[in-house]
Amino acid sequence: MENIGILGLGTVGTGVVELLESNGDLIAQKLGRQINVKKILVRDLSRARTPLARGKITARAEDILEDEEIKIVVELMGGEEPALSFIMRALENKKHVVTANKEVISKYGGQLLEMAGRVGVNLLFEASVGGGIPIIRPMKQCLAANNIYKISAILNGTTNYILTQMEETNKDFEEALREAQIHGYAESDPSADIKGLDAARKLAILSSIAFNTRVTPDKIYTQGIDGIELSDIKYARELGYTIKLVATGRRLGRSVELLVSPVMLRYDHPLSSVRDVFNAVLLEGDAVGRVMFYGRGAGKMPTASAVIADIMDAVRNDSGGRMYCTCYNELDVLDRGAAVS
Ligand code: NAP
Ligand code: HSE
Repeated sequence: MENIGILGLGTVGTGVVELLESNGDLIAQKLGRQINVKKILVRDLSRARTPLARGKITARAEDILEDEEIKIVVELMGGEEPALSFIMRALENKKHVVTANKEVISKYGGQLLEMAGRVGVNLLFEASVGGGIPIIRPMKQCLAANNIYKISAILNGTTNYILTQMEETNKDFEEALREAQIHGYAESDPSADIKGLDAARKLAILSSIAFNTRVTPDKIYTQGIDGIELSDIKYARELGYTIKLVATGRRLGRSVELLVSPVMLRYDHPLSSVRDVFNAVLLEGDAVGRVMFYGRGAGKMPTASAVIADIMDAVRNDSGGRMYCTCYNELDVLDRGAAVS
């Protein structure tokens, strides 16, 4: 059994606890061991929580960070502090860290990765970009041989949801934002979504990996969707365009050009059909050409899917790097040919 501690039990934390329960057997079969959530940190002990968390809740970070039986700490609190200090303390205590925190990773990812490397543990952050879309690991591993020279992406589910609702149902901005908050897509301070900062943080993370450099969000020209009105969307549509919040990164010799802003996209552009909470990342590499990643960019279960994949990787690395399971389901293969003939 592998004990983990979770910092935060909001939208994503609750999704992680629920998915570990509902797919627990499958996960244990693939890993060869159970994942046990030993403790969960929250701020407000009086709030109602999922019954799955009963007996595990604490308001003392030490109960997780100083527990020698917990080898993996999963940070799902958000914000810069105290999340950053907790991540650093977990690494100092030789615990693997999994996080969905783009604010911390975009600003301090380089230092934290160095620290993790020094200590000999993993720092994994697949859920920090694109919600449930596999993007960090494919970029670091599957596309590692490429010189990636361009990123074009929709990286924020809340703003894409708002723009889609405004375009398709004529909802006003405020109403569409309220819906995104109810769905659990928005940050606790939604101005980070609306003003483009969340997308800039994600672009900083992707560009650092793609261009093999260190980019922080403050270096990215960022404009949000707060100035967009229903009439802008209507006129764009009449001209054959849709408005999207697009993040672009381009390698230009020894420089990179980085930008987050609302853009009018023609209806035949690959990003124009990305609707609602969906995100997409279009990469261009010298060997692979164009590759596109697409899926739900925010929300409880898609994000939990990415977080748990990281937890599973941390477990595998902790047990000597075994990457593939040795136990399989015996499944019958249906003979479709026989059914047709
Ligand atoms: P959330 O719903 O606001 O939950 C945050 C949780 O952290 C709450 O349980 C809160 O405790 C706890 N917390 C916050 N500050 C704390 C503190 N100082 N001490 C102890 N506990 C504290 O946030 P979320 O939407 O789950 O997001 C979590 C992280 O995932 C963020 O970094 C976010 O950017 C990232 N993310 C979110 C999504 C998404 O779709 N929501 C997708 C990808 C990544 P209380 O419950 O007691 O208030
Ligand atoms: N607030 C973020 C979004 C959550 O809407 O995309 C996923 O990172």
